[in-house]
Amino acid sequence: MRLEIDADIRRAESLPGAAYCDPSLHQAILDRVFVPSWQLAPEPTHPVVPFVLLPGALDEPLLMVRRGDQLHCLSNVCTHRGAVLCERACDPQTLRCRYHGRSFALDGRMIVLRSRPSSPPAVDVDREESAIIYLISAALCSAAFSTPAAVQSGAESIDRSF
Ligand code: FES
Repeated sequence: MRLEIDADIRRAESLPGAAYCDPSLHQAILDRVFVPSWQLAPEPTHPVVPFVLLPGALDEPLLMVRRGDQLHCLSNVCTHRGAVLCERACDPQTLRCRYHGRSFALDGRMIVLRSRPSSPPAVDVDREESAIIYLISAALCSAAFSTPAAVQSGAESIDRSF
């Protein structure tokens, strides 16, 4: 659906009724408005707190990770086959996927490829590409915000405090 919006606000009109139930317009708004914008994240009551960003809209499984006085936001999805890594607030040393044992440091780096020695050796696994997606996070007073716009994977931090 294409919407025509006059640059002169005095000629503003209501959206056509179809705009409120068009799935492609809904998805475009999610992608272009909500994905790059800041969203309120749960206050991290534990060192690692899983949450879903905008349930029913983005449905993005994320983790707020507190390390010292820094907040980090990571994807909560295993880079192997997409299992959710953490289901409740906790204080782990690492994040271990319960499906096949891939483990990640709390900065997102993959540190263990598999847990069972009997597993055949994996080939052609790039540890940097297998890191959990790292997202922007920021703290404003006691509130934490994150944006699902992925910026990089791996350990580099671009957290901001206001
Ligand atoms: S899905 Fe996580 S290790 Fe396979």
